[in-house]
Amino acid sequence: MPSTVKLFALTSEVINGEMQFYARAKRFYEDVPATEEGMMGDYLELNSIDIEASCVFLKKFVGGPGKSDTEYALDCGSGIGRVSRYVLLPVFSSVDMVDMMDNFLFEALSYIGKDVKKVKDYFCFPLQEFTPPIKKYDVIWIQWVIGHLTDTDLMLFLIRCKNSLKDNGVIIIKDNVGRQGCILDQTDSSVIRDIDILRNIIAKTDLQIICAEKQLDMPEQLVPVWMLALK
Ligand SMILES: C[S@@+](CC[C@H](N)C(=O)[O-])C[C@H]1O[C@@H](n2cnc3c(N)ncnc32)[C@H](O)[C@@H]1O
Repeated sequence: MPSTVKLFALTSEVINGEMQFYARAKRFYEDVPATEEGMMGDYLELNSIDIEASCVFLKKFVGGPGKSDTEYALDCGSGIGRVSRYVLLPVFSSVDMVDMMDNFLFEALSYIGKDVKKVKDYFCFPLQEFTPPIKKYDVIWIQWVIGHLTDTDLMLFLIRCKNSLKDNGVIIIKDNVGRQGCILDQTDSSVIRDIDILRNIIAKTDLQIICAEKQLDMPEQLVPVWMLALK
């Protein structure tokens, strides 16, 4: 019980009103170009480092005995589909994308290239309002977007994702993980959480972290990026 109280207090302590927190993020992304650079927050040079590590991490959990199938993946906070294009579509037969910005999803149609026919559904929803279909996906990939959700909304979204996994399915979170506490980034209206806060939120969902790896070869001055696999 005490940790539940802490969980809900944390969000409100830093974000200064939930409606504003979400509205500011929406305003921020209205000015972000629908390009790889826009998706990478101007760190385009880290694109290939990120993609390579993601592909290696994904391989640990798909396509083998006791691993998840390679039939269907969901890309959450997909933007124009950078992760879908380089990480998910080379592996899965079908991919769905969900993002709150319709212009990013529209751009995906041309950006993704030849595999675009394998993208089945483009869901234009904020994740805090999105319920993925029951037992549909082998992998649900959530990259660089959890900081845009309040603690409560993140917890509830993860629970809905859990219900959307097939047997042996896995959720992969890849995101900035701060060194201490929960810090608001005013620029894009997101929070950066430390690993204990993140673990605390995940613990409320009944999902277990089955693997956690830090992204290597990132510049020292940037917030560390972690990949977490949840089942
Ligand atoms: C930094 S970009 C990352 C895009 C993509 N995951 C990638 O790694 O290339 C963040 C994305 O999250 C989306 N986003 C932010 N807040 C969201 C929310 N509450 N619900 C759904 N999408 C959101 C933005 O529109 C944007 O496409």
